[in-house]
Amino acid sequence: MDMENQALIKVALLAREKSYAPYSRFRVGAALLTKTGKVYTGCNIENAAFSPTNCAERTAIFKAVSEGETEFSKIAIVGGAEEKTMEYCPPCGVCRQVMREFVSPEEFLIVLAKSTTEYKEYTLEELFPESFGPDNL
Ligand code: THU
Repeated sequence: MDMENQALIKVALLAREKSYAPYSRFRVGAALLTKTGKVYTGCNIENAAFSPTNCAERTAIFKAVSEGETEFSKIAIVGGAEEKTMEYCPPCGVCRQVMREFVSPEEFLIVLAKSTTEYKEYTLEELFPESFGPDNL
């Protein structure tokens, strides 16, 4: 059992408690680990107009970047419908693209968790191959 993953998942579960999801009732939490060892949390934040909704992953990444952190090693994501057992919650395409802006796809790790003991780990490259990034411009 990877202690770092377990700790990160715990933080993501706590972040999920802050989820603002009155419309979908699907609550998501994320914990983003920087290369310097800091953790930034995020939750999904919905909106009555629907499209301004921000995912948990992007909330965490935008919080980090807005505080001057742009180098990331890993993100743990937990999510599921309110009052239901947790399923794996893969990041949406927009969030994968936002991750791609800041990380090396072969190195950045994405931990999808149902609990601190039940999780799967991928590289961004596995979930988002042949992506368009800063080096393409
Ligand atoms: N959502 C996330 O926060 N992250 C994901 O990886 C998938 C979807 C949110 C957006 C919306 O508030 C709710 O989950 C249902 O789509």
